[in-house]
Amino acid sequence: AGDDPLAGLSTAGIVPVLVVDDPRTVPPLADAMQESGLRCVEVTLRTPAGLAALGEFSARSGLLVGAGTVLDPEQVDRAVEAGAQFIVSPGLSPRVVARCRELGVTVLPGAATAGEVLRAREHGLATVKFFPAQQIGGLPALRALSAALPGVRFVPTGGIGPEEAGQYLREPSVLAVGGSWMVPRDALAGGRWQEIRELCAAAARIAAA
Ligand code: 3PG
Repeated sequence: AGDDPLAGLSTAGIVPVLVVDDPRTVPPLADAMQESGLRCVEVTLRTPAGLAALGEFSARSGLLVGAGTVLDPEQVDRAVEAGAQFIVSPGLSPRVVARCRELGVTVLPGAATAGEVLRAREHGLATVKFFPAQQIGGLPALRALSAALPGVRFVPTGGIGPEEAGQYLREPSVLAVGGSWMVPRDALAGGRWQEIRELCAAAARIAAA
């Protein structure tokens, strides 16, 4: 917290993407994540509980907390009020980018093509979420894009598991890797903490490698 969120993402290496159905699961989840050595979280606003969960995470120290699935400027406002230190969107909305700029909050728009990356650059953004990474060609697609777009950093997210995460992290153009694999939605809703702890610890080892 306080530092540049992009630097924080780079240090964290792995960005757990959370879909929270019950905000009461946040305190034990945050404990499990932090004990595992994960340093960052993206709380999606795609469930009714998302905003409350984001607030719960923000109230804790030691984790870089972002909001995900942010689709419009109103959600930017609510996410920042709830303490989000960065904003992630599945695509590039000029209105979302403008609102983030007004509020001085870091924004990571999604980009799946060279054209979308170029539009992000025209908005002054050199870091994008490469989404949905596995579904649009995975590592070979990312390599081809980044060869043509020097200076752009990517946060591949979408369909990634532990194996792919390690591969992406070895790419110089990859700032960090996102995904939900280490906190499966059903495991969280079902309180399967041992499973979550093991998955988070494994993810943290990949980030540290
Ligand atoms: C996201 O919003 O970034 C994706 O839902 C995360 O992708 P995954 O669930 O396939 O890891």
